Amino acid sequence: MLLLKCCQSLTRVGPLKTQRHLRVAPTVAPCAVRLWSSSSEDRRSRESYQRAHSPSWKHVLAGLLAGTGAVLAYGLHHSKAERAATTTVQTIGKVSSVPIFSQEEVTKHRSLEDGVWVTYKGSVYDITEFVAMHPGGDKILLAAGGALEPFWALYAVHSQDHVLDILAEYKVGELSVEDQRKQQAVKSSDPYSSDPDRHPVLRINSLKPFNAEPPPEILSDNYITPSAIFFKRNHLPVPHVDPASYQLQVEGLPGGVLTLSLEDLKTQFPKHTVTATLQCAGNRRSEMNKVKQVKGLNWGIAAISNATWSGARLRDVLLAAGYGPDVARSAHHVQFEGLDKDVTGTTYGASIPLNKAVSEEGDVLLAYEMNGEDLPADHGYPVRVVVPGTVGARNVKWLGKIVVSAEESSSHWQQNDYKGFSPGTDWDTVDFKSAPAIQELPIQSAITQPADGAVVDRSAEEVTVKGYAWSGGGREVVRVDVSLDGGNTWQVAELRSSEKGQAPAPSPPPGRAWAWKLWELTAPLPPKAQELEIICKAVDNSYNMQPDSVAPIWNLRGVLSNAWHRVKVKIKEDEEEE
Ligand code: MTE
Repeated sequence: MLLLKCCQSLTRVGPLKTQRHLRVAPTVAPCAVRLWSSSSEDRRSRESYQRAHSPSWKHVLAGLLAGTGAVLAYGLHHSKAERAATTTVQTIGKVSSVPIFSQEEVTKHRSLEDGVWVTYKGSVYDITEFVAMHPGGDKILLAAGGALEPFWALYAVHSQDHVLDILAEYKVGELSVEDQRKQQAVKSSDPYSSDPDRHPVLRINSLKPFNAEPPPEILSDNYITPSAIFFKRNHLPVPHVDPASYQLQVEGLPGGVLTLSLEDLKTQFPKHTVTATLQCAGNRRSEMNKVKQVKGLNWGIAAISNATWSGARLRDVLLAAGYGPDVARSAHHVQFEGLDKDVTGTTYGASIPLNKAVSEEGDVLLAYEMNGEDLPADHGYPVRVVVPGTVGARNVKWLGKIVVSAEESSSHWQQNDYKGFSPGTDWDTVDFKSAPAIQELPIQSAITQPADGAVVDRSAEEVTVKGYAWSGGGREVVRVDVSLDGGNTWQVAELRSSEKGQAPAPSPPPGRAWAWKLWELTAPLPPKAQELEIICKAVDNSYNMQPDSVAPIWNLRGVLSNAWHRVKVKIKEDEEEE
């Protein structure tokens, strides 16, 4: 997760501690090819060049404040990057006062003490100050002394127009032509090139890694979301796993390490099927962004979907691996590791409480089927964990390892992400250790139809409002209230737990309502209204209700966004009446 993890705190703008190297302006002067030696004369000359081209820090800070979450991290906008590359290439070989560094010299700058330098498209950047003002900068150090390209290839999700401009502010020189040639020879292949094809209807939030949600109006067309349009949330490239050689390791139990093949999972354990809704912690983040900028993908209301999952119960597998009541005295968590890796070899990981994992009522699955077919590649083929009632992040895909442990997963996504904070907590004050990892999600509902800004003809006389409602922890949605007049009056929507036209599904056992309810309300158009402010809010069987507005639940990561959902609709009067 190089840089991505750290960049959450980038809007922190503290005092700049070091000014190790002055930076040069992005404009590259015609240059002579010469290596900048470390002699004092050359150093003086370099420093005077740098002073002459030193940018305004105000500019840098303005850029950072403008929400450059991923500065230096992941995402220079390609066209800009390419422009910069062209500039660099054109200038090499001409006469210039730009300092030229050898790779050897860049490599010496791999720590805060020695300075943190990186190269990108032939230019050399001193990002020491960036790292210094950046808690968690240890991950950035993985790129120190080398090229950024392999990391950006992996994290293009953070592509932002202004990132290259800001990086340019840190430029201290250029890499020698010889070393540029060497770098170009080591072609970094696109780690996403073998990602699967996706349905064109999906609204893409980021291409690499792939993150997309279906259009809301088709989300509520099906009670069971077709796999092709089920929202997709990947942090890394989709790994290719050979089902024949797939092995799942189960560790941390008295029986020693248990290794299971896909066939073992399918044949040695009873197949169990659960219909469960998955929701990303960042669903509806875009509404938080309207209150104040948050960090993360700008999800709309459809980072949630409902599927039928089949596989072995985690409980059965843990029992087979030696789980017994004794284990629960020392172990409290079950950790999961995915097979998707970043460039450093770090895998996606998460954990859930042990009692959820081993409870018969927990229904946690090691799923190998989704909607009656093999899991699609994007959804974790060949095996993923499905933790009903629990935030999507813990439903680890491409499962490689299970560890029963006294500790939670040490993964970034368990420790430093997917946690909720007060609206008053900012990137200066946040302490990720102070908050628990999100597990069960709160009550949620949203309007899928009509869309915000839609127009309804007065002649239609009535309006139909549709949406979904779901609550975490197996709590059942018992009611959805809908208002057409901004919350002055309310009507109760009709709830549905099966496909339209099919017999209603039997009520789930108490505490095991894992699947959403779709809801619908058709009501007469209020006679005088020119515009409707439609609102929905759901209630679960613990009488949890959604908060009425976003601001009081705003948090810097934009998670747990579950305020009343509101859409505005215009009423078009009949021509003749006008
Ligand atoms: N598992 C792995 N191995 N890698 C991931 O990136 N993303 C998590 C979770 N499991 C993820 C993962 C997150 S944040 C979510 S919301 C869900 O998968 C999304 O599951 P989906 O893509 O099947 O909808």
